[in-house]
Amino acid sequence: MSQLCVIGTGYVGLVTGACFADLGNQVVCMDVDPERISKLKQNIMPIYEPGLEQVVEQNVNAGRLSFTTDIKEAIRDAEFAFIAVGTPSGDEGEADLQYVRAAAESIADHVDHPIIIVNKSTVPVGTGDWVAEVVTKRRAGKALEFQVVSNPEFLREGSAVNDFMIPDRVILGSLEPKATSQVATLYQPLRCPILETDLRTAEMIKYASNAFLATRISYINEIANICEELGADVLVVAKGMGLDKRIGPAFLDAGLGWGGSCFPKDVKALDHMATMHGSQTKLLQAVMDINRNQRRRAVMSLRKQLGNLNDKLIGVLGLSFKPNTDDIRDAAALEIIHLLEVEGARVKAYDPQAMEACRKILKKTTLCKDPYEVAEDVDALVLATEWNEFKQLDFKRIKSLMKQPIILDGRNLWDARQMKSLGFIYSGIGRGNLK
Ligand code: NAD
Ligand code: UGA
Repeated sequence: MSQLCVIGTGYVGLVTGACFADLGNQVVCMDVDPERISKLKQNIMPIYEPGLEQVVEQNVNAGRLSFTTDIKEAIRDAEFAFIAVGTPSGDEGEADLQYVRAAAESIADHVDHPIIIVNKSTVPVGTGDWVAEVVTKRRAGKALEFQVVSNPEFLREGSAVNDFMIPDRVILGSLEPKATSQVATLYQPLRCPILETDLRTAEMIKYASNAFLATRISYINEIANICEELGADVLVVAKGMGLDKRIGPAFLDAGLGWGGSCFPKDVKALDHMATMHGSQTKLLQAVMDINRNQRRRAVMSLRKQLGNLNDKLIGVLGLSFKPNTDDIRDAAALEIIHLLEVEGARVKAYDPQAMEACRKILKKTTLCKDPYEVAEDVDALVLATEWNEFKQLDFKRIKSLMKQPIILDGRNLWDARQMKSLGFIYSGIGRGNLK
């Protein structure tokens, strides 16, 4: 059993804290947001993440997990301080490190015993050294025994608890072998490969992994666009490619592109890091361009089918950046809605979990109670996020409600043949075979 403090109680911090508590450790999760902590104290989850509530509840009840806004209380007995605060995009695409700095300073201000600082936030290469410097400067000569270990996180939203508990690998970066092996001990119960390396390499592995996954998606989207022109079916192309063991089937779903809190900001941050150190990033540039165009192509396709978008009523199903989350950061749906509204279209939308988040930002859009209310009177319907509950809608009813039976299936969720036989004018992404 170890004593942990987790600074930042968002997707990563809360999952990390709850899962380490579940493995038998004593964990205090700390956040500067009083509303978030007050909710958590009442067992109200601040985010929608399947399975998380049960893990939190069990471990709070067992006395292994607690929440506070007070860093002093959180760090008092901690052997490890995990930093899991946000690193959003700055104006130039760089990772904004203000929250990491604040977290590091708060550790420096309130700890007076040996401690291992474990950085879980996604941070530019070199940040581990910088955190050590921030802490040392802040101590202003007051001695503190501490080490910094980089431990990038690879969980996905929507399957975060599982991803944490059954990881493909754990990466630990530090120049202090003793600190690395102490952090490795925390992960031993997970029985997964643990790769130990230096700080900078560990930080780079995180960016290289996210950028590679984004590259795969942009690649299949480019292939999808070529399929549309040449009469091929990207679904079968991806399947055929994925059967090659060297390629594999994951992350080859063509669609409206990648969004979320991480791929967009991390690809941008890697690009910024590289160019600011004199490297060219032609591939990363192309990966980002393809992604931006994927969303624009959807709007252009609707404009083409409807003549123009002014005063047209468009329905959008799915608002979160992927299914099983209420996270709408950089969601394809939001950009498409914006582009449609800019051209004078009126938009109605529905999402199973993201309505509350959207209410604050979609001022012009009509938010509906279900997919059928969305379908009423619309000139076209766009599927933007492939939630399970959209898989088997009452399509006869949907068609009878729509003004025009135009469907753009932005995630290739539905059976094209069935949709056509029901009388829809159906298009997917990369389905050149349907033309
Ligand atoms: P988030 O926005 O959900 O949560 C961050 C939390 O940190 C917020 O609750 C905020 O109030 C808190 N915070 C900010 N400054 C603080 C401070 N000084 N002290 C205490 N708390 C503070 O962020 P997230 O999605 O959990 O991401 C955190 C980091 O992990 C990012 O670097 C991200 O790139 C990385 N990451 C995220 C995911 C993911 O799926 N979301 C996966 C892997 C890695
Ligand atoms: C991603 C990575 O998968 C995690 O390993 C990483 O830890 C995390 O980013 C992070 O650093 O925050 P996440 O953003 O939660 O996780 O979700 P993904 O499942 O990777 O999906 C990202 C985006 O790509 C979504 O918009 C999704 O719709 C899109 N996507 C995914 C596709 O368009 N096609 C695919 O084949 C797969």
